[in-house]
Amino acid sequence: MKIKMFSGEKLPLEMHKVRIVQKLNLIPIEERKKAIEEAGFNTFLLRNRDVFLDMLTDSGVNAMSDNQLASMMIADDAYAGSETYYKFEEKLREILTLQYILPAHQGRACENIINQVYVKQGDIVPMNFHFTTSKSHVTINGGSVIELLTEEGLKVNSDHPFKGNLDLVKLENFFKSNGTANVPYVRVEAGTNLIGGQPISLDNFKNTIALCKKYNVRTVLDASLLQDNLYFIKTRDESAKNKTIRDLTKEICSEFDIIYFSARKFGFARGGAICVKDEKEYLKMKTLVPLYEGFLTYGGMSVREIEAITVGLDESMDEDIISQGPQFIEYMVNELVKANIPVVTPAGGLGCHLNAKGFLPHLGSKDYPAGALVSALYLISGVRGMERGTLSEQRNPDGSEVYAEMELVRLALPRRVFTLSQIKYAIDRIVWLHKNKDLIGGLEFYDEPAILRFFFGRLKPVNNWPEKLLKKFKEDFKDSL
Ligand SMILES: Cc1ncc(COP(=O)(O)O)c(C=O)c1O
Repeated sequence: MKIKMFSGEKLPLEMHKVRIVQKLNLIPIEERKKAIEEAGFNTFLLRNRDVFLDMLTDSGVNAMSDNQLASMMIADDAYAGSETYYKFEEKLREILTLQYILPAHQGRACENIINQVYVKQGDIVPMNFHFTTSKSHVTINGGSVIELLTEEGLKVNSDHPFKGNLDLVKLENFFKSNGTANVPYVRVEAGTNLIGGQPISLDNFKNTIALCKKYNVRTVLDASLLQDNLYFIKTRDESAKNKTIRDLTKEICSEFDIIYFSARKFGFARGGAICVKDEKEYLKMKTLVPLYEGFLTYGGMSVREIEAITVGLDESMDEDIISQGPQFIEYMVNELVKANIPVVTPAGGLGCHLNAKGFLPHLGSKDYPAGALVSALYLISGVRGMERGTLSEQRNPDGSEVYAEMELVRLALPRRVFTLSQIKYAIDRIVWLHKNKDLIGGLEFYDEPAILRFFFGRLKPVNNWPEKLLKKFKEDFKDSL
C-alpha cells in the first residue's frame, strides 16, 4: 500500500470516487432460503434482485470510469469500417505489440476460433492450468489438456509469490517423451483463475516462450487477467520494481505468437480480441470471425463497448487503477486469515477464495463441499459467490466424477465496485458461518447437464441442513437481515 495510515492500520484506499450508484436489496433470510431452493442450490441460477453483494464474478461487472462512459458517446456506429474499431486496433498494437487483430464478443469466442483452427483429434494442449471454457474448447475439437502447473500452485497455503508458474522441467520432459507433432500450442494463462487468481513471474513468462521456441511450438497467452498479473510482478518481483506497467506488458507480450483476452476483465468493459504476431496465422483464423462473431470491424461487440475497452486498456496500464482489486482482496484475505478461516494464500487477483475442504472438513468431494459452502453463504448473508471445485469439473466419459484438486468458493471483487464496509460485512458473515460450519451438509444433483453443468445444473441438500442453519441464524441475529 502506497498510503500509510497514522494509526498504522493497513487499509486499502479507494483511488476513485463514486458518482453513479445502484441501489441494493438485502432480502430476509426466509426469502433467501426460498431463492436458493428455487435456484437448485446453484448460485448461477439466482436472480440478481435476490442478491445483496454479487461476488459471483469479476467478468463484465467492473465499474466503468467517467472517461469510459464519455467515450461511449462518441462511438462511430458503422457495420463496416467504424473509426471506433481502428482506434481499438491501434490501442492493442500499442499496448500488446502484436500487429494483427481479430475482434470477438468475449473470451470464449476467441477460444472457439483458436481451437477450431489449431486443435484436431488426438492433440494435446499443455498449459499452466485450465480455465473451464478454455478446456471445453480444446476437448470439443477432439484434443485434451495437460496441466503443468508448478507444484506450489496447488498448495492452498503458500508464501510463493507466483503460484501460477508453469513447471518448465515438466514441459520439457513432456516435449521429449510425447514429441511435439500433436501439440498445436502451449497455453499460458496470466493471473491463473481457477487456482485463486495466482500470477506468473516475469522470468517464467520469458522462459516458457524460450523453451517453446527451442521446440518450435506455438505459444498462446490468455491475457484475460493480465492486469492483476502485471500488478503482482511490479510489487512482488524486485527486478521489476523500476519498470513501468507499460514496459512490463511489452516485455511479456511481444514474444507470444497469439494473445487473446476477455475484455469483460482486461479492458473493464465487455468484449474480446485475438492478437496475432504473424500474418499467416492471422489469415488462418480471419474467416471464422465473420462466421461466428460479426464483421471484422466489430466482431460481435457494440461499438460503444469497443470505445470503452479502448479507454479501459489504457486504464489497465495505470498502476493506481490496477492496484485496487489486489489491494482490496489482500485486505479481505488477511482479515479472514486473522480469524482462522481457511482461504487461499497468498492473496491473488480477481477475488478472495475460501478453501471449502478446510472450511467443511466433515464433507467429502462427493458432497460438493464448495457448492454447499457457497449456497450456505448466500443463505446467511445474501453474498453470492461461485463454486470452483468438483461441480465445475466435467465427468469422465465413463460417467465417473473428476474430483477437483481444489474445492474453492470464489468471492470475486469486481474492480472499483465494492466499498470497504461491504467487504467488512462479507467478512463478518463468513466468520459467523465458520463458527457454525458443522450445521452445513452436502448437495446432490437432481438435474445434471452433460456439459458445463455448473452453469445450469440443479441440486438439493442431502438433509435438511438449510433449515438448521436458518434457525441458528435467527437465534444469533434475531431480527437483523
Ligand atoms: C482466464 C480466463 N480465460 C477465459 C475466460 C473466458 O472469458 P469470457 O467469460 O469473456 O468468455 C475467462 C472468464 O472468466 C477467464 O477468466
